[in-house]
Amino acid sequence: MLRKPRALKMIATIFSIIAILIAITTTQSRAFDSAHEAELLNLLVQDCGSCHGLTMKGGLGSALLPENMIERDSEFLADIILEGIPETPMPPWKSQLSREEALWIVEKLKQGLKP
Ligand code: HEC
Repeated sequence: MLRKPRALKMIATIFSIIAILIAITTTQSRAFDSAHEAELLNLLVQDCGSCHGLTMKGGLGSALLPENMIERDSEFLADIILEGIPETPMPPWKSQLSREEALWIVEKLKQGLKP
């Protein structure tokens, strides 16, 4: 009976170490050089903006403002961007964007586009 809490604690520690490692590797892969970032930003405003609004306030597509995005899981939002939403006008972008690029866009949406 006394051993169980200790085992659980150890499992919890192992999981937090794994989580930290994942966090480190994913944040590192989200940095691109500034030319590439400008390209992605341009795609976000021009292509995504054509449906979601130039300032992401929404249009044909839903609003993608920080208040709509901040509490949502980044990986889940990246999946939406890559796979699209079937039976809606939201197209899949996986032929044009990598997962890293989709995650970069998600972070940008969470921060909010500067006008
Ligand atoms: C042809 C129009 C169109 C384009 C272009 C488009 N979207 Fe969408 N998008 C939509 C529509 C419509 C929805 C809402 C679908 C629904 O659930 O009814 C949507 C939904 C989304 C959602 C989910 C929003 C939520 O609150 O769940 C995200 C995230 C998103 N789009 C991101 C993007 C990004 C990033 C781009 C550019 C790479 C993009 N979209 C380009 C039409 C578009």
